[in-house]
Amino acid sequence: MQHTSESKWDHEINIRQFEPYRAIFREASSQVIRDIMAQHVGQSSRILEIGSGLGEFTSLVPEYKYKILQSEQSERVAKQNKTLNPDLPIVVASVYSLPFNTQQFDIVMGYSVFDNFLNLEKAFGEVSRVLKSGGTFLHFLDLQASPEVLFEQYKGKEVILFPSLTSDVPSSAVSRCGLQLVNKIDLDQLKRYFSDSHVLWGPWFESYVRDPMTLYRMGIINPRYQSVLKKASEIVKQSGLAKEINPNDEFHSSLERNLLANGFSIIQLGVLEAMALQSRTGILKQYSAVNVFVNNVGIGTSTYDPKISSELGDRVKTISRLHVAAAQKYC
Ligand SMILES: C[S@@+](CC[C@H](N)C(=O)[O-])C[C@H]1O[C@@H](n2cnc3c(N)ncnc32)[C@H](O)[C@@H]1O
Repeated sequence: MQHTSESKWDHEINIRQFEPYRAIFREASSQVIRDIMAQHVGQSSRILEIGSGLGEFTSLVPEYKYKILQSEQSERVAKQNKTLNPDLPIVVASVYSLPFNTQQFDIVMGYSVFDNFLNLEKAFGEVSRVLKSGGTFLHFLDLQASPEVLFEQYKGKEVILFPSLTSDVPSSAVSRCGLQLVNKIDLDQLKRYFSDSHVLWGPWFESYVRDPMTLYRMGIINPRYQSVLKKASEIVKQSGLAKEINPNDEFHSSLERNLLANGFSIIQLGVLEAMALQSRTGILKQYSAVNVFVNNVGIGTSTYDPKISSELGDRVKTISRLHVAAAQKYC
């Protein structure tokens, strides 16, 4: 059975939830990607995209769209993608069992996808099989790495994960925030902090500890519950018992480990950024008090910088930082 980190994408609504966030940063994000694609994609390159979702990647670099064969595990999402992009090919396939012969592609890539895979080792086994020798793997992460994978990895261990919510652009990005880790031996002490805050927090704490991922996900799915997660996140922070962990850092090291273990040499691994000046249209009209937006691999911040306001006029500055991985299969 598939884990929630992968199966939650079976419904396109979970991909569409990022639209208000991505709409702000698309122009800057596509500049980062164009640079990388120009370095790795040749005239006759055959590209396989894993986990294409609704076609975000091809929409960011439409000049490459006819070179890319999209693949997507969810039949429902693939169907929606086909409706949106009737001229582009898409195959329904899981990364764990790709319906292709060995050594067919020059490039295999993903856009905010590999962070969702619980079994990266198996995924890279397949990626490596369908890539030609000397072929390239590319991955871009514009959203914060999936926290569900971490909930699964820490399950049954001596620690428990709590949310750590700090993001401010826009409210939907709240679902993609950090985590804090508390040792199970400190749980009694932490429970006292919760019970002292309000009589209702004690029972909440008990249920959270029984099933952290379900309660965490409730906050993501139900916007009204986000304030509960925010408050819980503050109580945990104030207790001084927690250690912050960043899902992005965890994903980046796991990506590196698995690439090396699967016969890849790393060409590039790190955060790259680009900036765009955009007119205040569409969703940007909603934020009249902001003139600088930053996407730091899924963690959004917004500010008003008075020093550049006359130079910007009615435009805004958007900066997008993506985590980029490029690696070559060397055998
Ligand atoms: C965060 S969404 C990103 C979708 C798209 N790349 C985008 O940026 O909008 C993650 C995608 O990975 C796909 N996915 C999840 N598990 C998969 C698997 N085992 N094999 C292939 N794709 C998978 C999901 O169906 C979903 O489309």
